[in-house]
Amino acid sequence: MAAQMTQNRELLKWVEETVALCEPSNVYWCDGSQEEYDRMCELLVQSGTFKKLNPEKRPNSYLAWSDPIDVARVEDRTFICSTSKQDAGPTNNWVNPKEMKETLKGLFKGCMKGRTMYVIPFSMGPLGSPIAKIGIEITDSPYVVVNMRIMTRMGKKVLEVLGNGEFVPCLHSVGAPLEPGQQDVPWPCNKEKYIVHFPEERAIWSFGSGYGGNALLGKKCLALRIASKQGKDEGWLAEHMLILGVEAPTGEKTYVGAAFPSACGKTNFAMLIPPKPFQEKGWKVTTIGDDIAWIKPGPDGQIYAINPEYGYFGVAPGTNYDTNPNAMTSCEKNSIFTNVALTEDGDVWWEGMTKEPPAKLIDWQGNEWTPGCGRPAAHPNARFTSPASQCPCIDPEWENPRGVPMSAFIFGGRRKDTVPLVYQAFNWNYGVYLAATLGSETTAAAVGATGNVRRDPFAMLPFCGYHMADYFAHWLQFGRSIPKPPRIFSVNWFRKDANGKFIWPGYGENMRVLKWIVERVQGKAGSVESPLGWMPRFEDMDWEGLEMNREKYNELMSVDRDVWQQEVLSHEELFIKMYDRLPKEFLHTRELILSSLWRSPEHWEQIGDVHPEGWNE
Ligand code: GTP
Ligand code: SPV
Ligand code: MN
Repeated sequence: MAAQMTQNRELLKWVEETVALCEPSNVYWCDGSQEEYDRMCELLVQSGTFKKLNPEKRPNSYLAWSDPIDVARVEDRTFICSTSKQDAGPTNNWVNPKEMKETLKGLFKGCMKGRTMYVIPFSMGPLGSPIAKIGIEITDSPYVVVNMRIMTRMGKKVLEVLGNGEFVPCLHSVGAPLEPGQQDVPWPCNKEKYIVHFPEERAIWSFGSGYGGNALLGKKCLALRIASKQGKDEGWLAEHMLILGVEAPTGEKTYVGAAFPSACGKTNFAMLIPPKPFQEKGWKVTTIGDDIAWIKPGPDGQIYAINPEYGYFGVAPGTNYDTNPNAMTSCEKNSIFTNVALTEDGDVWWEGMTKEPPAKLIDWQGNEWTPGCGRPAAHPNARFTSPASQCPCIDPEWENPRGVPMSAFIFGGRRKDTVPLVYQAFNWNYGVYLAATLGSETTAAAVGATGNVRRDPFAMLPFCGYHMADYFAHWLQFGRSIPKPPRIFSVNWFRKDANGKFIWPGYGENMRVLKWIVERVQGKAGSVESPLGWMPRFEDMDWEGLEMNREKYNELMSVDRDVWQQEVLSHEELFIKMYDRLPKEFLHTRELILSSLWRSPEHWEQIGDVHPEGWNE
């Protein structure tokens, strides 16, 4: 089989070595065909990993329930093993690569006994695009194979493009060898987990988990951790960003990238449907990608971005036909659901999908569930895997191998207080500072406590494959090297009132903020200067069709001087950790923000509408 599919010597050698190390009972090269996909799904049904959903409700779709110890990314088990510890930086776990290889070889020795080893050729980015990269994942998980077929361009055609070229080797095992005669479990995994990157060698080894970002190695491991390092070396950017297109009533199209930490709204924002009055005026939003962007300067001095992925691995809870109909349509068929609940008629359900929960369900752990039983029916990090092509608002350019031109970058976190709805950085340096100091409450997308504010620079804290301060410097340099760098904005959809309720309606209504952003890029929208950047006044935003008043707007936009002083002081905590490599610009930007926070109160009367209390005291 292999001989027919590739002559790539490096690849054949690596597969041979891996067989000797992992000792699988079979080797199977994935061709990426529909027939193969269907066969593998059937296999997963037989082994108990998959339940086939009711074909009338959810055609060609499956449900998997994971082991409860394997439900999210494991950040404390994720390693960047560069040769020098310094190069991994203070925000990554590091182990000497030689030592780590020894540990891994011990773990991988015989780890695929009794299992089939699958070889998955995949392309991140449109096949043959100058921006795309090829990886080969070796795995013993058929669940990974079928998910990779949705999430990447995968199979025989990738090997044809690869020829004798270079690829990123991605070795994965669930770490659960089978003794002869031993019965397999529905979701094999290992208590011990290692998600390991060798950035200089451009190699990935992942052991012990079958879940999402730990196991689908094209996504976070290759397209962010390894690619960010390649981008640093080669002068481009790999970012945890959605990409969307905005068409104005004039027909003018603007592409925007937005980086929010995991489970902070990228998929929703990428698929936004403008409110009725905006639609009637001719505003349209289209999706290029919902999680990752690869961004390169083009020959014309503009910068271009592609979505390296081919599908969505989206958060299920909270997704419904009111707030994100495009995601709901995307997962209507040909989809895999992980850790959602099963309905009596063989369909799926999760918290927030419908206003009224069904009277009876089987929850994600396989137990009977009724409303009010005190447990969530779906795991908070339950996911759907769906083909991007099924998204009704997919952009016609989404597979353009050259990418789309980018005009703005947006950064946002989940902050119940402190951070206003939107503001624009004064310039690229301020923007890089704003992104570098992004704070957000932790979510269920990673194992650990949720709801704690942490610094998550560029929403890349768990995904940067090298020293974070070098990454900041790379961004500063990137902006200097292009004639007209994109404008940079901060947003926060998650501010809460005194009763703990979200003040901002969010979802489709985020179009109002997006419109202001696009019009700022075009030089059309008004604003006032604040210590943080340019802010829209109440009258600078389009409120048609939404009940909004100045009082509520001020609550959304307010910048409290004392609170912000604390916020800016807290940036120090991050900076001190990386002081030796921190760009000097940051220290000055920080001083500038602090000193403008102290400007004379009279100065702020002109923006009284934005800060009725804050600045006029
Ligand atoms: P990852 O796939 O983990 O990278 O997440 P993501 O950034 O794509 O987040 P996603 O769009 O899936 O949203 C995560 C959660 O935030 C879901 O429960 C959404 O319902 C919720 N959410 C998204 N957008 C908004 C918004 O504008 N307002 C509010 N209040 N919640 C939102
Ligand atoms: C994220 O956590 O940002 C995700 C999900 O997109 S995972 O693929 O598990 O990383
Ligand atoms: Mn993500």
